[in-house]
Amino acid sequence: MCNCLQNLLFFICIMLTTAHGQAKSPHILFIVADDFGWNDVGFRNPNISTPNIDKLAKEGIILDQAYVQPVCSPSRSAFMTGMYPFKTGLQHLVVWPDQKVCAPTNLTFLPQHLKKLGYATHMIGKWHLGFCKWQCTPTYRGFDSFYGYYTGREDYYRKNNSHDKLLGFDFRKNMETDEEAIGTYSTFQYTTRALNLIAQHNKSQPFFVYMPLQSVHEPIQVPIEYENMYNHIRNEGRRKFSGMVTAMDDVIGNVTEALKANDMYDDTLIIFSSDNGGWPTEYGNNFPLRGSKITVYEGGTRVTSFIHGTGLKKTGYTYRGMIHAVDWSPTIVAAAGGVPDKNIDGINQWDNIRTGGQSSRTEFIYNLDDLPPYQTGHAAIRMGDYKLIVGYPGLYPNWYPPPTYTDDNYIKEVPYDGSQNNKTQLFNLKDDPNEHDDLSTKLPDLVEKLRTRMAEYHKQMVPANYPAGTSTADPKNYNGFWTPGWC
Ligand SMILES: *[C@@H]1O[C@H](CO)[C@@H](O)[C@H](O)[C@H]1NC(C)=O
Ligand SMILES: *[C@@H]1O[C@H](CO)[C@@H](O)[C@H](O)[C@H]1NC(C)=O
Ligand SMILES: *[C@@H]1O[C@H](CO)[C@@H](O)[C@H](O)[C@H]1NC(C)=O
Ligand SMILES: *[C@@H]1O[C@H](CO)[C@@H](O)[C@H](O)[C@H]1NC(C)=O
Ligand SMILES: *[C@@H]1O[C@H](CO)[C@@H](O)[C@H](O)[C@H]1NC(C)=O
Ligand SMILES: *[C@@H]1O[C@H](CO)[C@@H](O)[C@H](O)[C@H]1NC(C)=O
Repeated sequence: MCNCLQNLLFFICIMLTTAHGQAKSPHILFIVADDFGWNDVGFRNPNISTPNIDKLAKEGIILDQAYVQPVCSPSRSAFMTGMYPFKTGLQHLVVWPDQKVCAPTNLTFLPQHLKKLGYATHMIGKWHLGFCKWQCTPTYRGFDSFYGYYTGREDYYRKNNSHDKLLGFDFRKNMETDEEAIGTYSTFQYTTRALNLIAQHNKSQPFFVYMPLQSVHEPIQVPIEYENMYNHIRNEGRRKFSGMVTAMDDVIGNVTEALKANDMYDDTLIIFSSDNGGWPTEYGNNFPLRGSKITVYEGGTRVTSFIHGTGLKKTGYTYRGMIHAVDWSPTIVAAAGGVPDKNIDGINQWDNIRTGGQSSRTEFIYNLDDLPPYQTGHAAIRMGDYKLIVGYPGLYPNWYPPPTYTDDNYIKEVPYDGSQNNKTQLFNLKDDPNEHDDLSTKLPDLVEKLRTRMAEYHKQMVPANYPAGTSTADPKNYNGFWTPGWC
């Protein structure tokens, strides 16, 4: 009898929690900046103006050890699937517009999980996870709507993009090409789109917007009013780039204002992350971190990230625990009131982050890539305070201060030549976050320990899916638009 009553009470309790949990599912805005460097944000660098980001970051939680992959497509696939790219074939560079490649269609994307929890799901911005067939594209992978582009880069105004000899336009509303987009700076369009979605949203339903902005990837283009804010910067590229950053910050300001005006702000969780480090040859900056985008040094992989809004129990501080790109999918699913998948690489960090608890992550893989030019392992692993790099770390292995007062392109690329194939580097990131002091000869036992662990991960690697491009992708076959249908 007693047991029965207990069971009944337990059941009622579960039902109430579920009902309550669903009623309280937060709206979620996941903003991803493109090639935005560690030293490109106002709260670290007073030479850059990002008042809206700074305010949200300071009111929320700054994530001091947020890691991603060294380039675009792999990071985005990790955000969407919670899987390491070296397990899904996406570990080598990026998906090029003429490659018959996309994120494996048997993986469940974050918006697919959120739809099951009752969310309306929207995407605004850059996809870069393949589009050779429709099944690869956002509206087939959990997004109710899509507004943006499929490829990895394009002109901010013309929305065109060339790869090898293929030239095409790339801009869509859902599946339809959208030539109205031509001529307007994308940052303004994305803001307008977000404002419209917010205004039209039925507030009885939780709302998810994934907003991977074009900003601040090259080409270096910005409306003059933003460039003019940085007239004291003599270096033209850095001056324009700084303006691009402030334009991006405006998106965040305008979208938060719209959430307030529509009475959604207090129920919204905002997550912000860059997809990889800044690219100094394109005026992004990660100083004092070492390296750049396209390297496994910290400058390529440790990024500006914060979380703000509903559900956070402790705020206004910097979270020092490790979080990796693969953690966002399960963490967001948990924040939404769902139960994250167990058989993925990502760890649900929701309770850790929101209470200021210890991170559940003690190690991660920066990347594992066996293809040339990363011959015997473009490979790096983090375990506790230590990081091991094996082989060629990438094109930009140095420290690059911002080029504020210089005109020269002072950055020298260091191409792969084979001589670094067997090189190991060991850093203690707690004492030496900027990777100045290679400890590998001093601490051979630790090198061995990290190498052994890396070898275990390596056994789970699948070959990189990185075929030669195909002319069947040519936009000429599709009225000048990059279009699915050739794989
Ligand atoms: C800001 O600019 C000044 C002048 O060029 C430079 O000395 C300083 O290092 C810059 N600050 C940061 C954090 O990059
Ligand atoms: C997806 O398909 C690949 C290739 O067929 C397979 O190796 C992998 O296990 C599948 N993954 C899932 C989650 O089903
Ligand atoms: C876009 O088209 C214009 C005019 O056809 C061309 O000058 C420009 O190079 C193209 N941009 C890209 C990124 O391909
Ligand atoms: C943000 O809103 C202000 C005020 O309406 C406007 O001037 C600005 O262009 C907007 N910025 C963006 C990026 O949409
Ligand atoms: C909003 O959604 C609720 C629940 O689905 C529905 O009852 C209501 O009519 C909708 N409101 C509007 C304005 O569409
Ligand atoms: C790297 O190590 C492998 C295996 O230990 C060895 O066969 C190869 O000769 C080494 N390469 C260089 C460039 O030292």
